[in-house]
Amino acid sequence: MRRLLKNIKGLVGAYEAPPSWLGGLAMGDFPVIENAWLAIEEGRIAAFGTMDSFPGIVDWSGLEIEDCDGRYVLPAWCDSHTHLVYAADRGGEFLDRLQGKSYQEIAENGGGILNSARALRAMPESDLMADAVKRLSLAMDQGTGAIEIKSGYGLTVEGELKMLRIIQALKKESPIPIKSTLLACHAVPEGDWNASTWTDAAIKELIPAAIEQGLADYVDAFCETGYFSVEDLNKLLGAIQNSPLKAKVHVNQFSTLGGVAACVEHGALSVDHLEELSDEDMAALGTTLERNKQPVFSVALPGCSHFLGIPFTPVRRLMDAGLPVALASDHNPGSAPSGNMTLVVQLAIIKMGMLPLEAIAAATINGAAAMELSHEVGVIAPGWRANLLITKPLNGLEQIGYRFGENPVEKVLINGEQR
Ligand code: NIG
Ligand code: FE
Repeated sequence: MRRLLKNIKGLVGAYEAPPSWLGGLAMGDFPVIENAWLAIEEGRIAAFGTMDSFPGIVDWSGLEIEDCDGRYVLPAWCDSHTHLVYAADRGGEFLDRLQGKSYQEIAENGGGILNSARALRAMPESDLMADAVKRLSLAMDQGTGAIEIKSGYGLTVEGELKMLRIIQALKKESPIPIKSTLLACHAVPEGDWNASTWTDAAIKELIPAAIEQGLADYVDAFCETGYFSVEDLNKLLGAIQNSPLKAKVHVNQFSTLGGVAACVEHGALSVDHLEELSDEDMAALGTTLERNKQPVFSVALPGCSHFLGIPFTPVRRLMDAGLPVALASDHNPGSAPSGNMTLVVQLAIIKMGMLPLEAIAAATINGAAAMELSHEVGVIAPGWRANLLITKPLNGLEQIGYRFGENPVEKVLINGEQR
């Protein structure tokens, strides 16, 4: 199938030779070609340019032409942090929060992640898979064109591997690229465990099994008071140092413990959450801007801040320091039960002070880089997947944030096909 989009008001994130990511204020320079055309062939971007240089159509066979008058075309969202596989919702805990209990109090009383772990244990793999397929399908309808999915509700070696097998099965049947993260240390399992003994078991049994079975791309931990300490995190990161797995880590959701510096030290791919951020964290992230050092992506999750009523990640501070920021949904049953990346971008614009192009870059090119998918998604470039969003007619890109109760996305294309 061949598709031609013409009279596009603004073609966003289009490059002949794209960079892998954008840092700091350069995120606001995500390019926009005005009055553009775009050709798609075999599910990939074939060519693009301005309408005044449109070469005309030579071969009409099988060509679908779409007039995008007044509309913007963007790369589809790249959601680099989700917990999309889970067993049951936690609406009851939501009601408890509405009546005054905090997320932490609910967790301390055996709810939260432990609640999800009990539900997951009781649910057959095939049912978990069916629910995950539905959530993934909805996320794609809402504009997600690449996604990372974590384990972390198994809390036993077999339970975590069961989750990873589901993610592996999703990878096989999904039309969008998926990265799989072993969230090895999410909460201390019930029973005779403490954070340290479970971390040791994860290192000794879980990680080797996941590597041997080829089930994980990344390793994650929840470094937080009442969960896993910086010492546990250091042990875990040390254990994967010479393995094929890189780290993407939950840090600074409620407190600053020093996990950011540990992640920088070990060359993690991303540090995620960062609702709290200390001068020491900033200094550690700043060192990653030195020559030849691979960036450590700061992944902000405004859906979680919004839903839990906790601070929004101070992304302007990160960007002013030149650091690359990505936006992701954190889609999970406890702290962010939504995979709607358009809403995430709207929250980033309204609540975190990101300019529209900065937020779009954070949710596309930088999201792709935060899951090492820069070579196929996140920008509009010749040969890249035609995973695209076509907006409704908009006066300008600021309308995405301005009309916050509206869905500005009219159509989603995945591999060139309309959802
Ligand atoms: O990213 N903070 C740790 N993990 C998830 C929440 C998990 C849950 O509550 O089920 C998060 O917010
Ligand atoms: Fe998370």
